[in-house]
Amino acid sequence: MANIQKVWIIGGSSGIGAALAQAYADDGAEVTISGRNAEALEKVVSILGPRHSFAVADVVDPQSLEDAARARGPFDCIITTAAIYDPGPVLAADQKKAEDIIVANLTGTYNVARVGAKNLKPGGQLALFGSAAAIFGLPNGQVYSATKAGIVNLAQSLRVELEPNVDVRLITPGFVRTRLTDQNNFEMPFILEPEAAAQRILKGLKGKHFEIAFPRRLIWPLRVLAWLPKPISFALTKRLKQ
Ligand SMILES: NC(=O)c1ccc[n+]([C@@H]2O[C@H](COP(=O)([O-])OP(=O)(O)OC[C@H]3O[C@@H](n4cnc5c(N)ncnc54)[C@H](OP(=O)(O)O)[C@@H]3O)[C@@H](O)[C@H]2O)c1
Repeated sequence: MANIQKVWIIGGSSGIGAALAQAYADDGAEVTISGRNAEALEKVVSILGPRHSFAVADVVDPQSLEDAARARGPFDCIITTAAIYDPGPVLAADQKKAEDIIVANLTGTYNVARVGAKNLKPGGQLALFGSAAAIFGLPNGQVYSATKAGIVNLAQSLRVELEPNVDVRLITPGFVRTRLTDQNNFEMPFILEPEAAAQRILKGLKGKHFEIAFPRRLIWPLRVLAWLPKPISFALTKRLKQ
């Protein structure tokens, strides 16, 4: 899609979302960012400049998304990066945090898709964030990875259901250095800075492919892992068990 004018980045207050907001602003778009933390959103917008704006909206609360959309839409492109993460072994997991992850990541993305589809210009783009973690379930991935696998399925189903009015896309990042991955206590192969990830996403969304997955040197080994006979896949992932 050429000449994107109005872009809404949900989860634009930090990490990949904030870097994407900057990339779109630099590309000439008028950017709205949203999230739950007004102070963090204001800080990002003060860097983006006066043409850009923010709205406080929680993806768990569809009405807050509707209010933001009504105030600033319709949009050419809506991207939702909003997600939370709490890594660690399943038997030590906090039940409430696990439930919050499912609701924020999966229900939240579904809420954005429903509100977003009604607040895009005809043929506008709706980009959902999956993850390389969705390609094959790895030890300690659990609910976070499961929500991301759910988002892959959601994006696939919406792609056909909503066309041609909505151009649904799926973003599949590998490791990116943000506060989310700062929680990991293992070495993250081929990790990217958020600015580099944002450039790949911007370029991908200007292109035609449904899925924007990067970096390839991480994505392809994971795809092979998922394709292998399962006893071999599990023998390989067993090595990642801590
Ligand atoms: N970093 C990686 O290596 C990596 C890899 C694969 C996929 N991803 C995906 O990339 C996306 C961005 O992650 P990131 O690394 O940039 O994380 P991040 O820095 O923690 O950013 C997450 C954003 O989501 C917002 N958010 C969280 N819960 C929300 C809610 N209930 N309602 C509205 N906004 C909410 C946060 O803002 P508030 O807290 O202020 O609301 C923040 O702006 C996520 O979907 C993540 O799963 C990341």
